[in-house]
Amino acid sequence: MAQTQTGITQVIQSERKRLLIEATITAINEHGLSNLTLAKITGHVGMTAGTVSFHFDSKESLLLETLKFVAEEFEHEINLAIDNSDHDAGMRLCSLIEANLDARVSETRKVAVWYAFLSETRTRKDYQEICGDRDKAYYKKIRELCEQIVEEAGKQNLVSADILADGLAGMLDGFWSDILFSGDSFDRENAKQRCYLYLANVFPWRFPLDQQSFEKKNTEAPSNLEALAPQSSEQIIYTLPSWVYNNHAFFEQEKDLLFMSSWQLVCHVNDLPEVGSYVRYDMFNERAFVIRDKDDKIHAYQNVCSHRAHTIVQNQAGSCPGRLTCPYHGWTYSLDGKRIGISDSETFREHDKNQFGLKRLDLEIYLGFIFIRYRPEGPTVAECFAPVAKEFKAYRTEEMHAVDSKVYGGSQFWTEVIDIDWKNGLENYVEDYHFSMGHKGLSALMKPEYDREPLPNGVCRLSHEMHDAPRNNWSAERYRKLLPEFEHLPDNMQKRWTYYTLFPNTFFDMFPEQMDFMQMIPLAPGKMLLRSRSYALPDDSRTVNAVRYLSDRINSRVQNEDNVLCAEVQKGLHTSGYEYGILSDKEVLVKHFQDWIRKRVPVSRLLEPPQIGA
Ligand code: FES
Ligand SMILES: [Fe+2]
Repeated sequence: MAQTQTGITQVIQSERKRLLIEATITAINEHGLSNLTLAKITGHVGMTAGTVSFHFDSKESLLLETLKFVAEEFEHEINLAIDNSDHDAGMRLCSLIEANLDARVSETRKVAVWYAFLSETRTRKDYQEICGDRDKAYYKKIRELCEQIVEEAGKQNLVSADILADGLAGMLDGFWSDILFSGDSFDRENAKQRCYLYLANVFPWRFPLDQQSFEKKNTEAPSNLEALAPQSSEQIIYTLPSWVYNNHAFFEQEKDLLFMSSWQLVCHVNDLPEVGSYVRYDMFNERAFVIRDKDDKIHAYQNVCSHRAHTIVQNQAGSCPGRLTCPYHGWTYSLDGKRIGISDSETFREHDKNQFGLKRLDLEIYLGFIFIRYRPEGPTVAECFAPVAKEFKAYRTEEMHAVDSKVYGGSQFWTEVIDIDWKNGLENYVEDYHFSMGHKGLSALMKPEYDREPLPNGVCRLSHEMHDAPRNNWSAERYRKLLPEFEHLPDNMQKRWTYYTLFPNTFFDMFPEQMDFMQMIPLAPGKMLLRSRSYALPDDSRTVNAVRYLSDRINSRVQNEDNVLCAEVQKGLHTSGYEYGILSDKEVLVKHFQDWIRKRVPVSRLLEPPQIGA
């Protein structure tokens, strides 16, 4: 019984000590250290000065215990957060930030205690003993994690982990002083985002490239467009910032993170009509071609000789029915990619000729169209188009042949170099907000109501129907009047134009009488190559030819109008007067595209280009 009584007494005493410490934290926050009296402390907890003396030898000892309590709690929470996170240094650093800015650890009252004691610390050995080593251990932990991130990337000679760690620690300290002044109105999420933004700036290889680590924590990757833009609201959808449309470092990231693993459309299978027919496809510094072999099989190769890297096929399209011969030293390859001959072979040492054939690329044929990709990552073309496959298949594109439009200038693939960034071009293509303002001719033919469908795997579907009786436009009126019924199409597709987009840069325009593909191939920041070709089912009737001519006429005008609009936008993006804009609900596919980019190239969330290692 006596033992139980002692236990209860201990619990009560310990609870009273805790309450007194809590009261001291509150009192320091309200009055500071120099004006602090025992009465001000006990007033917060309804105890007497005698109670303080009973539990603590003196006011001084109560103050020391309070500092110790706050310091130990901070140390414990930081260590716990790091220990509970992945072993990965980046994740640990994120956990440290989260713990540091956690509302419990950096509560305004506790921050006030830190700052109150800080000014006294240099002259007080006892204060130094409580905080000094813990402070050192905390900063050391930040430095170690930064060092690990730098070392893992082998960048010790390029980046000073110490300086970057000091930057982060300084930032966190700065936020603590903001907490002191702002109190409850301090925006912790904004502060965390700024820390992640800092990490993305100084360790761009770690944070932008590992989006998953942010997703695991269920937090968005760094975004100062969301965090810093004025009047931030969930309803507002911001565009990409203007710098990404005209930045060389970003252009390199686009190549690596958006294009190398993307599907690129080379041509239609019927563009390779015979053995040895080939079509070449160039993108950034990469060169490729597809070719039909003797067994009717289609192959995709890097267009580079295994000897000393000369290009193998020189023209955009052509035929090499027998073998492929490199024009530099005459090495020859079979159509299925094997090296079959070298000139002056006796001058080479013995080697495995199989190692020196043509390098293959990933290839997929979807509904008649040949796609290649440099890195075999991600879903197939068929998987991407699965949500629209039924409708797409109804057009019977596999049976189509090229129809070389008179309007577009004759034969082969139509190309045009324009001073427009490919993203600017794509954004124009997937939104109809500018439809009635920018395309009077098209508006005469087509209704302004669009289906706008953002689909998974970087696909969009945009679709609209014709007016029953178009007026005030010669081409539109005649097109609508002459357009016949097509047996292969269901009713709801007879008078409908539908556009599919496959990110990053491929479009299919589906009309009842024909279709075309269009590509926006980046050449430089703010410069791209448009590449296109039209296809149709065999039908040489006068009516269908006239309808195709009229549809080309309407669409070539739309293309010219879009080029003028986009060129003006491009110039605007280069001015100092535009940083970013907002999107309407009619631009939902622009958002879909920009989200796709933001996910893959997280620096696109920054209002300004990163300064280090972008
Ligand atoms: S580079 Fe092709 S044969 Fe030498
Ligand atoms: Fe347009």
